[in-house]
Amino acid sequence: MQFSSPLKTNSTKVMLLGSGELGKEVIISLQRLGMEVIAVDRYENAPGHQVAHRAYSIDMTDAAALEQLIQKEKPTLVVPEIEAINTKLLEKLETDNVTKVIPNVRAVQLTMNREGIRKLAAEELKIPTSPYAFARSSDELKEAVNKVGLPCFIKPTMSSSGKGQSRIESMDDVERAWDYAATSGRVNEGVVIAEGQIDFDYEITLLTVRSLNPDGDIITSYCEPIGHRQEDGDYVESWQPQPMNEKALATSKEIAEKVTSALGGLGIFGVEFFIKEDQVWFSEVSPRPHDTGMVTMITQQQSEFELHAKAILGLPVDTSLTNPGASAVIYGGHDCDAISFENIPKALAEQGIDIRLFGKPQSFKKRRMGVILAHADDIQHARNKAQQARSQIKTKPV
Ligand SMILES: Nc1ncnc2c1ncn2[C@@H]1O[C@H](COP(=O)(O)OP(=O)(O)O)[C@@H](O)[C@H]1O
Ligand SMILES: [Mg+2]
Repeated sequence: MQFSSPLKTNSTKVMLLGSGELGKEVIISLQRLGMEVIAVDRYENAPGHQVAHRAYSIDMTDAAALEQLIQKEKPTLVVPEIEAINTKLLEKLETDNVTKVIPNVRAVQLTMNREGIRKLAAEELKIPTSPYAFARSSDELKEAVNKVGLPCFIKPTMSSSGKGQSRIESMDDVERAWDYAATSGRVNEGVVIAEGQIDFDYEITLLTVRSLNPDGDIITSYCEPIGHRQEDGDYVESWQPQPMNEKALATSKEIAEKVTSALGGLGIFGVEFFIKEDQVWFSEVSPRPHDTGMVTMITQQQSEFELHAKAILGLPVDTSLTNPGASAVIYGGHDCDAISFENIPKALAEQGIDIRLFGKPQSFKKRRMGVILAHADDIQHARNKAQQARSQIKTKPV
């Protein structure tokens, strides 16, 4: 990798496909390493657009539009931050050596679709997961639910942040769950998954980094496990380190190693697990920073964003924890074009509290607009501090 300055003839260009709050932090980290960064999203003034060297708004599922942009910019690396991308085109561009996709096209394709990653993890790698079945119609979904049992989760095969996801307890709910899932996936493929409910004690994200050591060999390192709480399939609170029994942690690392090495390439992966005592179930994996990992902006020597930036550029990484901490999500609370955040000085008054406001141009009731970060001597204090600060912030439509 060539390290220089941006906007020169010899600059290394990195293109982010998807430039939300996670992409924005990756961009900042890449810029600290002298990269020239191009931010792409489907709407104007996305968070990452605001901090990049150049910004574009296109439909990334549109092969022609995406090809034209990549051919124009000729980035050394393309870094997908979202799932709704035309990966067939990325495959062609990677084969033709136009650019290189992070971590690689196959990994992006497998993880963007719950069908792909389930088949890899459960069927090829024989890793324990919840019981599951796929359905392409509401009748097939009834069969699928019979197979996995109740209660269960119904999800579009292509979705994130809980979009289109429902938990059902009765056969009577199947029709509604089908309609909801089949219409709200990011890219509507009309395929849904039914997953039997795992009765877990807690769930974690194990951030797993594939990076190069000084000899140029790929090594795998792990961040301390991140605990999190989800509401309606969307993360509302996370903390690090999640206390775990030794065996469950060792098993989680083993599985994360298996899954990430099967996916390959360089970068950070958010590997999600359900844990009960020393039993571990693999849930899903993102081949990029994870929303629950925003807590690492206050808990680690190098945040998940910095780890991703360094790993993809072939640099050594340091996953060590500096102190326990927590994050709490700030939702928009209103559907409107502009909101203001009230009481921020008060919320940040106590030592050890920080905030990120993502700069999203529009607010929705359940849109993630910012996050509170807190550090303390232990996770319980950190969680309390983060919740307390978050509850002081009021959003107001303008
Ligand atoms: N099979 C399951 N058993 C128990 N909880 C589940 C199951 N599937 C999903 N959940 C809950 O819903 C959350 C979101 O599901 P997930 O599959 O991670 O969707 P997304 O891709 O939208 O993050 C999980 O973090 C977990 O809290
Ligand atoms: Mg998830």
